[in-house]
Amino acid sequence: MEKTMTENPVFCALDTQNPSRANQLAENLSPHIGGIKIGMEFFYAAGLAGYQNLAATGLPIFLDLKLHDIPNTVAAAVSALCPLQPAILNVHAGGGLDMMRAASKAAKDTAAENDLTAPLMIAVTVLTSLEDNDLNLIGVNATPRDQVLRLADLAQQADMGGVVCSAHEVEALRNQCGPDFKLIVPGIRPAGHATNDQKRIMTPEAALEAGADILVIGRAITQATDPVQAASAISASLKSAKG
Ligand code: C5P
Repeated sequence: MEKTMTENPVFCALDTQNPSRANQLAENLSPHIGGIKIGMEFFYAAGLAGYQNLAATGLPIFLDLKLHDIPNTVAAAVSALCPLQPAILNVHAGGGLDMMRAASKAAKDTAAENDLTAPLMIAVTVLTSLEDNDLNLIGVNATPRDQVLRLADLAQQADMGGVVCSAHEVEALRNQCGPDFKLIVPGIRPAGHATNDQKRIMTPEAALEAGADILVIGRAITQATDPVQAASAISASLKSAKG
């Protein structure tokens, strides 16, 4: 990773199509967060120029594009994205073992060929918007939790560096996958904050305590009356919880 990960575990989700708003947020929040997460919404709207302007802030970027296709196509996409130097890049674990293997190999090979640091490659397990019945409807006869554990095992076999999961699976995943496997956790809400559409939430302190490595926090920061104050309060609470 060219942009080295910092001590601060908070990656702020900049879910906007507006490059100026994203840049302003990134610049203002920079002293209080460890990185930013941008997804399909921003990347499709603002493109490479938008990405590069955000990268110029110096913050590590989690490029949340959730790649999902045949192994050859995903490997080529990872290769094409590596020169952007995201700190973290992801694919869907549902793409299978061979696809994840191809993705992690493409990241390592492209980085080595271009003298770059490979992004941390992670796999999305089960989307937090899916519950038991949704999995049954697509032919998966397992609980979301069991499916998350199964897909994380597959991701680890494929040499991925970690997974995206809900805070409620962190403890079981930490036990199953060991101390070095990165657990990236969205659905974080400071105490007393609105839940919005998230179902399985946890406070930043509790998620970190359970074993999360990176906390993805969007609206609790970006929709606050004072986003800088919200981000600095979260990082202060995490520091004091750490002791
Ligand atoms: O605003 P909020 O903190 O809920 O934002 C969470 C971010 O994490 C959003 O960008 C959302 O797309 C993303 N995410 C999620 N659940 C997943 C994967 C990603 O909420 N399973």
